[in-house]
Amino acid sequence: QKRIRVPHLQKMKETGEKWAMLTAYDMYAAEIFDEAGIPCLLVGDSAGNNVYGFETTVPVTVDHLVPLCRAVTSAAKHAMVVADLPFGSYQASPQQALATATRFMKEGMAHAVKLEGGMAMVPEVELLVRAGIPVMGHIGFTPQSEHVLGGYRVQGRGAGADRLLEDAIALQEAGCFAVVMEMVPAPAAKRVTEALRIPTVGIGAGPDCDAQVLVWQDMAGLRGGRAPRFVKKYLDMRTDLGNAARAYAGEVASGAFPAAEHSFEE
Ligand code: KIV
Ligand code: NA
Repeated sequence: QKRIRVPHLQKMKETGEKWAMLTAYDMYAAEIFDEAGIPCLLVGDSAGNNVYGFETTVPVTVDHLVPLCRAVTSAAKHAMVVADLPFGSYQASPQQALATATRFMKEGMAHAVKLEGGMAMVPEVELLVRAGIPVMGHIGFTPQSEHVLGGYRVQGRGAGADRLLEDAIALQEAGCFAVVMEMVPAPAAKRVTEALRIPTVGIGAGPDCDAQVLVWQDMAGLRGGRAPRFVKKYLDMRTDLGNAARAYAGEVASGAFPAAEHSFEE
């Protein structure tokens, strides 16, 4: 199988085949998800709170993400790799967006970029697409604006549903190949999905989106504390990895590790 590209994702919208997207920030995650047949990997700015230890995505820079993106693309043979444009790296002008996206395509070896915002981002999206860069939109709750939105809150309730649809259509008309909808009521997401020609990718947006995306450390149960409502844990990696570390340390303390089979003879 060759590299997944925009037309493959578009085809799945038309045939009604739903697909899954995961974040990836390093080689092994990319390799494993690629082998599992995940068609699209996101080098998210969620690296801020899943790799770099920040509280939000706001402090994430292009320099933080470009090397991760390069690692993911190098390891993923089939998946389409989408790079998130970090806060402050594209909102100043279409020219700034193009310069940043170009770095991700060249140095990061990304296949597409993602940016947050609806109608306001139309000029940026148009220039990137004209330059040959596939763009994924991101509307609803947009973490880079969380200080304006007042924290992690559901967007697109009530009259917000019309605004969500207008944003989604504006992004589609500007040339986006897909749109992420984050934390919006399921009926609003369904309405957008039915209205758009391009795929919608939901996270906390109900079952009717064309695709779903999750942060892999959430899905694998690596993260501590309470996960958001939209997360499903398919693994309890935090417990398993902690137990493995304790077992290893215990065997080092007792002398059980390393055994003869781990040691070299004269
Ligand atoms: O950064 C990220 O992981 C994202 C997804 C949750 C859509 O933007
Ligand atoms: Na993001």
